[in-house]
Amino acid sequence: MADIGIDLQKAAAYLTQGELVAIPTETVYGLAANAYDEAAVVKIFEAKNRPAFDPLIVHTHSVSEISNIVQEVPDAAYLLAERFWPGPLTLILPKAEQVPLLVTSGHDSVGVRIPNHPLTLDLLRQLPFPVAAPSANPFGYVSPTTAQHVQDQLGERIPYILNGGDCAVGIESTIIRINGNEVEVLRLGGLALEELEEVVQISKAQVKTSSSNPAAPGMLSSHYSPRKKVLLGNIAENLLKTDSARVGIISLQQVFPEVSREQQIQLSASGNLSEAARNLFSALRALDQQPVDVILAEWMPEQGLGRAINDRLQRASFRG
Ligand code: TXA
Ligand code: MG
Repeated sequence: MADIGIDLQKAAAYLTQGELVAIPTETVYGLAANAYDEAAVVKIFEAKNRPAFDPLIVHTHSVSEISNIVQEVPDAAYLLAERFWPGPLTLILPKAEQVPLLVTSGHDSVGVRIPNHPLTLDLLRQLPFPVAAPSANPFGYVSPTTAQHVQDQLGERIPYILNGGDCAVGIESTIIRINGNEVEVLRLGGLALEELEEVVQISKAQVKTSSSNPAAPGMLSSHYSPRKKVLLGNIAENLLKTDSARVGIISLQQVFPEVSREQQIQLSASGNLSEAARNLFSALRALDQQPVDVILAEWMPEQGLGRAINDRLQRASFRG
């Protein structure tokens, strides 16, 4: 099992030696390695069982450091950085020479992000290199939002988990690509489109969730899945078709008296979509542990983080 703690010195030492460390961010926990150390980055792909074609996001602590990671920072990126970093936004930009192609899966662009977590920002400031970090889950499973989630699945494969508590946003970063004046959303996430649109015009607001488009590598349809089957739609209707003793429920607010308390989770009693996002992945994990055959989930309102929740639920429900 991995050590879990808040020892920044220890985390920095492991990373400097080319080992992996799980780090907290405001979105989900990441599995970090020195982005410039190819032997260390290889360990990320191995530990997660992640295919080499799925590129990693590079994390750093300040906008001035970004200039070492990307070729140039366009004006739109500066605007976004100023407004939203540190925060749940990843920018895809042309990569600098020194970023290994292993990190970007051979692409000439790289994803960069300044995460908003005090412990991880402190750690990044101590390190003389940025870290490459995907979500700290086995490939294809639900992302971790607590140190214990990481321990449960990757504890045998890594030496240290930096414990930053529960992730405040709870859903992965919003990923956008900037091409000249074009801003394209590659992944809906923890930064709502409404907020982005206050700063930039978005040319393609919707990601095709059914695609496995290699232009947006890693955006595979069946991602973020629990082991249990997920049925997405009207819960009351789907309940009529299933054995209520053997179902789990993820609703926004509604309680279903015919299903036991342990087997249903309301994401936000007040209907707050940010709170719902924060609880989503824990809910999927919890119901995965329950004696149920299927998880019934419902669509969230298509606004704020509701869009990103719907995207993750749709991927979780996809059996291709
Ligand atoms: O919130 C997050 O983004 C978390 C935390 C740890 O920062 N990280 C995360 O990483 O979700 P990951 O690896 O699970 O998802 C990153 C996705 C990849 O699957 C890929 O779709 C996209 O980012 N990506 C990374 N680099 C890219 C590139 N150069 N071009 C296109 N897409 C890229
Ligand atoms: Mg991931």
